Amino acid sequence: MRMTDTLVISPASSGIRGDMTLPGDKSISHRAVMFAAIARGDSHIHNFSGGGDNRSTIRAFQTLGVEITQTGTDVLVKGRGWEGLHAPGETIDCGNSGTTMRLLSGLLAGRPFASRLDGDASLRSRPMGRVMAPLREMGADILSEGGENRAPLRINGQSLHGILYQSPVASAQVKSAILLAGLQGRGITRVQEPVRSRDHTERMLPAFGGRLQVSGTEVTIAGGQELHACEVEVPGDLSSAAFFLGAALIVPGSELYVRGIGLNPTRTGVLEVFQAMGASITILHPREVCGEPVGDLLVRSSILRGIEIEGELIVRAIDEVPIIAVVAAFARGTTVIRGAQELRVKESDRLHALATTLLALGARVSELPDGLVIEGGGLQGGRVQSFDDHRIAMALSVAGLAATDKIVLEGIACVDISFPGFYGLVRDLTGTTRPDP
Ligand code: S3P
Repeated sequence: MRMTDTLVISPASSGIRGDMTLPGDKSISHRAVMFAAIARGDSHIHNFSGGGDNRSTIRAFQTLGVEITQTGTDVLVKGRGWEGLHAPGETIDCGNSGTTMRLLSGLLAGRPFASRLDGDASLRSRPMGRVMAPLREMGADILSEGGENRAPLRINGQSLHGILYQSPVASAQVKSAILLAGLQGRGITRVQEPVRSRDHTERMLPAFGGRLQVSGTEVTIAGGQELHACEVEVPGDLSSAAFFLGAALIVPGSELYVRGIGLNPTRTGVLEVFQAMGASITILHPREVCGEPVGDLLVRSSILRGIEIEGELIVRAIDEVPIIAVVAAFARGTTVIRGAQELRVKESDRLHALATTLLALGARVSELPDGLVIEGGGLQGGRVQSFDDHRIAMALSVAGLAATDKIVLEGIACVDISFPGFYGLVRDLTGTTRPDP
């Protein structure tokens, strides 16, 4: 581990106060580039997330021959329709990004050329069978070179046909991969999910001229569609905001105003969880931007109590469980998280990572097969590692702001995956981090 990859986070000496805006939503940024790349015409994307995962998506489409230029947080994609995608001259590197690899699999399965998708060690360890199985049913020729349905993946483009697919997992990546395959295949594709996963694909495709129907947990799409260019304004990322909301809740004397955050109901589980714990969070100026609900959030430090979280709420808060677990460690009473087995196949095994690190920081925590039991009461200082997982790193950094002593966190470089400016903002708001000398 490089020394510069380690940070000391000291307890905040006063409340976290400020007025902030955050980078664009990661999930929406991925989709905006992908849809623009297969659309005809120049699409302008504003407030694009600058994180490593989104950079992987831009690079992937550049490798496929699409002209994409980025100026600050504005991205211009010069789409030439489906035919604008060309056989890549090299392996497409999806980096750490599951969304890039899974959605691209659906998109490339129906293109008339071969491609190979790879990623870093974390992405190579993640399950790809969940997209390979339905895509094969649609006629795709997709092979796992890594074995056991793991990347690298080799895709020989085929002409695809529609299917009815009942997904065993609630996964927006699986759903979106199938919809992107269905969009270019023959006939009708229907995807059913056990619980509705985030619906950014369904909301954004119509803006690019795509037609689909949503009925409860089922999405239906017809094949043979062409998309046209569009202008997209990406809302602020609630998953990034959640770290600052969590920090403001547990550092006494805090008051934070966060502007322009995406409040899609398939994503707002974290707000409901925090509010059920007793958090003071108010939504102000609700509005709609490019088919997505957006609002400002006012959060104040609060006395929190432990709660039980499970079921569909978990799906709507899946990426926020790391910060929820940290906040729960500062609540009164016990928090029980169940039905979160999907966390075992994220960028790290997040249940194991959270149980290990919170224990090292003095929490009473136990790991369930599908969740965590966390006794509140606060955290001590200590030395912990991020498991090279951006959301674990940021959640533990927030823990450091409210712990009784400093936390030395190893492996902070990974925050670049979703939130390159995270530590700059923490510093601006608190002045309490410094590199480990
Ligand atoms: C995402 C979907 C979710 C989420 C991930 C981003 C997306 O994953 O956890 O961070 O952009 O579609 P699953 O599709 O595996 O649920």
